[in-house]
Amino acid sequence: MVRAVDFWDKRAESYAKSPVGDEAAYKEKLETTQRYFNAESQVMEFGCGTGTTAIHHAPFVQKIVATDISSNMIRIARNKAEAANITNIEFQCSTLEDFEATNASFDVVMAHNILHLLEDPEQAIRISYRLLKPGGVFVTSTGCLGDSFSHWRVLLIIMKILRKAPYVNVMKRVTLENYFRNAGFEVDLEWNRKKQAAFIILKKPAEK
Ligand SMILES: C[S@@+](CC[C@H](N)C(=O)[O-])C[C@H]1O[C@@H](n2cnc3c(N)ncnc32)[C@H](O)[C@@H]1O
Repeated sequence: MVRAVDFWDKRAESYAKSPVGDEAAYKEKLETTQRYFNAESQVMEFGCGTGTTAIHHAPFVQKIVATDISSNMIRIARNKAEAANITNIEFQCSTLEDFEATNASFDVVMAHNILHLLEDPEQAIRISYRLLKPGGVFVTSTGCLGDSFSHWRVLLIIMKILRKAPYVNVMKRVTLENYFRNAGFEVDLEWNRKKQAAFIILKKPAEK
């Protein structure tokens, strides 16, 4: 299996050029997420890739800290933000485990197309919960390959053997939902659409 950092560093340029799969669904996800923002919102994103989502959201919040394991992704993201005159995103090259932040310091944490790439997504969900303020939300779009057709899974195994794919977690949606529940999250909004990644917004309960 190829190391995640090597895989994504190598693909950063082509990833930056690849179009969004489903424009309408992506736009709807952006707009849905923006309903949770206000001008004071402190946002954190991990696995931000080339920063497309953070750049879309930046005008609606006070600050976004966007992180990724790949320095090539982060370099492209910084260039894209600069070209768009966006100055309230701080890009950091980091894993979530190494990310240094005070507990309960963010209003929103985002993880798009990343949880299924982690060997321990449950740990990432627990860290996200810790980073959120009470009442804060975790927004994720996650491919649940455990629920999809088996030929994709066979293809993945072959690609892993050929060192063409990084680690991919073949997770069922029910497992993902258990991780959220175990961490203490409550579901605020979720899509149940065929052939779509699981788009779910979870709330950290407010302190009583
Ligand atoms: C499929 S891309 C998604 C990028 C972006 N979130 C999006 O939706 O377009 C996955 C991203 O996660 C990053 N990544 C992979 N493993 C990671 C890890 N352990 N910690 C942080 N980022 C990671 C990769 O470098 C890549 O940019």
